[in-house]
Amino acid sequence: MLPTDRPALFLAPMQDVTDLPFLRTIASFGGADLYVTEYFRVHIHSQLDPYILRSITENPTERPIIAQLIGQDATELARTVSDLNHYPISGVDLNLGCPAPVVYRKNAGGGLLRHPDQIHKILGRLREACGATPFTVKTRVGFESEEEFDQLLRIFKSHAIDLLTIHGRTVKERYQTPVHDDRVAQAVRTLNCPVIANGNVVNSQTGLSYLKSTGAAGLMIGRGAIRNPWIFEQIRCATSKQEIPQVTGRMILEYIAKLYDETAHEISEFIEDRHVQKMKKYLVYISQGHHADFEHQIRRVKNKTEFFDTCIRFLDHEDHAPDLPSENSRLFCGFSQFL
Ligand SMILES: Cc1cc2nc3c(=O)[nH]c(=O)nc-3n(C[C@H](O)[C@H](O)[C@H](O)COP(=O)(O)O)c2cc1C
Repeated sequence: MLPTDRPALFLAPMQDVTDLPFLRTIASFGGADLYVTEYFRVHIHSQLDPYILRSITENPTERPIIAQLIGQDATELARTVSDLNHYPISGVDLNLGCPAPVVYRKNAGGGLLRHPDQIHKILGRLREACGATPFTVKTRVGFESEEEFDQLLRIFKSHAIDLLTIHGRTVKERYQTPVHDDRVAQAVRTLNCPVIANGNVVNSQTGLSYLKSTGAAGLMIGRGAIRNPWIFEQIRCATSKQEIPQVTGRMILEYIAKLYDETAHEISEFIEDRHVQKMKKYLVYISQGHHADFEHQIRRVKNKTEFFDTCIRFLDHEDHAPDLPSENSRLFCGFSQFL
């Protein structure tokens, strides 16, 4: 499933972001090697979410896609794997990282990290339910403290998982701190399966540093790929010592227009102003590192004309776009450990 001659590059699953239109958009700009769906919520009454399922049945990326599950009950999770086995998935991934209180208080996502025995039970059931389908796990390094990772690693090692992705923060650290790359390196040394490093990759340099400090088999990139969909292509070039393609303002403008069209196309009752509000959520990431007024002004636009006028004002040029977001931005901080 992974490329054999270079590090594997995954697009990180991001709820309400990495949906079908986003996958279509990102794949059209080079894209990742592998994809993971937004999570399917699993509980006693759950059924496969038809919208998320379309990322699998209509997978526009021509690359493998893994279905991610979030839940706390081993029996229900195993039942969901049986349902998913009817679809063209390249694997099943268990979410052990979501830090949203509404999720972790139910002992799902990152909340499971407080219950190692339950993880042990779930991994056993899911491994069995997956059969020949690859079974992967996406975890953080602990709930309260990275010291919990030693025990977690022992559990991961005791199950035949096919791949482990590590977002190198604890649940309590959420998204803003440096990542514990020493813990990712520890997993690489300990486990027999490939380990993928995640968190704080914002350009090719941060990606290469994270690979170097951990020896990981690849990277998973989330927010950095919303900001710059060419990041995968840039890292591929950097790892094969080719010239890194530069991104210009106009290329970003083209990306925004494509994202607008693809996401609009999927809405059954299209209301333009509401769609502009959705686009503003992507722009909060895309505008990072550009002139501070760009983010400020885009937050205030109310309709499509204002939205595109503002984008054109800041991006309609052939200059190189800033390679990095600003280090003190709320959305991207902590990455300077890799510079
Ligand atoms: C808006 C948003 C939604 C997310 N949704 C998911 C999700 O559904 N499943 C998951 O495993 N992680 C989810 N994450 C976490 C990311 O996959 C990733 O682990 C995290 O953002 C760190 O990587 P990055 O620094 O490259 O963004 C989400 C993150 C963000 C910002």
